[in-house]
Order: sequence, then structure tokens, then C-alpha cells
Amino acid sequence: MTAPIRVAVTGAAGQIGYSLLFRIASGQVFGPDQPVILHLVEIPPAMSALDGVEMELDDCAFPTLAGVVKADSDHLEDGFADCNYVLCVGSVPRGKGMERSDLIRINGPIFTSTGQAISSAAASDVRVLVVGNPCNTNCLIAMNNAPNVPNDRWYAMTMLDQNRAISQLAQKSGQPVSEVTNMTIWGNHSATQYPDFYNAKIDGKPATEVITDEAWLQGEFISTVQKRGAAIIQARGASSAASAANGIIDTVKAIANPTAAGATFSAAVCSDGSYGVDEGLISSFPLTSDGKNWSIVQGQSHNEFAQAKIDATVAELKEERDTVKDLLK
Ligand code: NAD
Ligand code: LMR
Repeated sequence: MTAPIRVAVTGAAGQIGYSLLFRIASGQVFGPDQPVILHLVEIPPAMSALDGVEMELDDCAFPTLAGVVKADSDHLEDGFADCNYVLCVGSVPRGKGMERSDLIRINGPIFTSTGQAISSAAASDVRVLVVGNPCNTNCLIAMNNAPNVPNDRWYAMTMLDQNRAISQLAQKSGQPVSEVTNMTIWGNHSATQYPDFYNAKIDGKPATEVITDEAWLQGEFISTVQKRGAAIIQARGASSAASAANGIIDTVKAIANPTAAGATFSAAVCSDGSYGVDEGLISSFPLTSDGKNWSIVQGQSHNEFAQAKIDATVAELKEERDTVKDLLK
């Protein structure tokens, strides 16, 4: 009998939680033979809604769901006890007209206690994915408050941006999404992020050979990806949820399984100084995984245009870091 994996999800009664939990419980993430125990964490006023979510999980009778643990945010250590993955979704989303960084002083403080509780209660192999915005800097805060968890276990989500970029390139080129590969998001999950089309491939060829309209790539493509979150809030009146949950699932699968030869995926991780990104910043890079540890893909070249974009997004991450320096240990 395979030992269950314990997966904590904060903000579990929120809209992303509602799109995410059932997919994890159904076996889509860890496979049909891997039992999962879900740890659902919410703020005290949302515990009643969480009871309803638990009832619905029960009512799916998923063979892979081996248990549900509920905890409120006053008892985070109970919520994270022995967890192998902690998915930090719980936080306030932005509304119309806001930038994600406008949330920094609202959501940032949540991540000090989150980091401390993960550090004291989670499993020794815990891996943490921060989704709540501004996710790079919230991840930085949690990591800096978690002395027992090595820095290479922390991730902030840019997979949704990667998927958005892939979809845009597929539509423009008329190729299926599966033919768009090596699409890296650099830097911050914000309107400064740089979706690197120069190193992306379509049908195995450089994307710039397939889409020859470089003005579109440098202009409309980048700005569509950078502003997609705001466009969804404008259209839906609420921030992305199903696509965000899908990005979480794609990220956990990318982390937990060896990356195919030649492939890469995007996530923001603790910089080791690669590509001149300040050591210790949580910045998005092209990554590979061996199923346990990630590596930053080395040797990619960036022309002047690309380097300026990377510099701008890294500069924003440094500004965000300075804004929360009182929350960093
Ligand atoms: P939501 O408001 O629907 O749900 C958030 C939930 O978090 C709520 O149920 C709330 O009660 C709970 N919560 C708040 N503070 C908490 C705390 N301290 N501990 C535990 N739970 C807490 O919001 P949502 O649409 O699910 O979005 C959640 C976050 O994810 C937002 O910050 C949003 O901006 C972010 N997001 C990030 C990405 C990304 O790509 N990185 C994509 C989409 C959304
Ligand atoms: C997104 O990219 O959809 C999320 O980060 C939500 C937002 O505020 O844009």
C-alpha cells in the first residue's frame, strides 16, 4: 500500500480552491495509484464554507482521496502538519484597476506566519508553491520566515503566464499548443514579466522563424501576456480561477516529475545569481526538474531587447523586496 502524500491548500474555500481541490483529489496530479490526504486551511469566518467543500469532496467518492484535514488560520501548524506540498493560495485577490503589487501590504503579512508554520510543522521534504499575489514577494517573505526549509523548496507560480504565452503563440502561428515549447517567463508574475519568445520553439523551430512578425512579438504578444490577469478581471469581474488552478496542477506535475529531454518549464525560484539576477530574489527562470530538485537552464542568450526586459522585471522584484524588508528575517 503506497503511503499517502499530504497536500495543504490555503484559501481552500476560495474560487481557485474550488477549481483545484477536486482535480488533486481525483488523482490527476499524482496519478491513480497515489493516495492523497488534503489539508484544507481557511480563515475562521470561511470554515463553514469549507465544511461544504469537504462534503462535496466526500460526495465525489474519489478512490485516491485518503482523507481530509481542516484547520483555520489561527492553527496553521495543524494545517501544515507533515505536509509534503503546501499550496499557498489563501490571500486577497486584486480588483479592477489594481496592480498585483497593490496587494503587497495586505497579503504580505499572511506569509510570515505561513512560513513559520511550514517551517515548524511540515514534512522534511516539503515543497511550497505560492500563488497568492504578489506571489514572488509573498514567497520571498515565507521563505525568509522558514529557517528549517531549504531555499530550493520554494516556488512562486508563473506557469499560468507560460500557458497564456503558449496559447497566444499557438493561435498566431496556427499550430497546436503542443507544438509550442521552451516558453519561459522571466522575472515577476506582474505586468513587467518577460515572456521570452526568442528562445521559444514552435514545431521544433525557433518561434521567430515561424512567426516572422517581430513587431507583434515584441509588442502585442508581450503586452497581452503581461496584462492577461487584468483583462480577465475586467471581463469576468473576478480574477482567473480555473486557469490558475490548472497552472498550479501543471506546476506541481512539472516539479514532481523529471522534465523530458530538451523541455523546460517556468516557475519563480530562489535565484542563485544565474543570468545576473540578484541571489535570493524569487524570480522566474527556465527550469528543469529531476523529480526532486530543479536546475536553472544555463546558456540561453538574450539580445539587447530581451536583456532590457529582464532587467526591468528584476528591478521591480528588488523594489518589492525593499517594500517588505521589515517582514524578511
Ligand atoms: P478568493 O478570494 O476567491 O479566495 C481566497 C481565499 O483565501 C478566501 O476563501 C479567503 O477566505 C482565504 N484566505 C484569506 N486569507 C487567508 C489566510 N490568512 N489563510 C488562509 N486562507 C485565507 O481568491 P482567489 O481567486 O482564489 O485568489 C487567491 C489568490 O491567488 C489571490 O491573491 C490572487 O491574486 C492569486 N492568484 C495568483 C495567480 C498566479 O498566477 N500566481 C493566478 C490567479 C490568482
Ligand atoms: C492572474 O494572473 O490572473 C492572477 O495573478 C490574478 C491577477 O490579479 O492578475
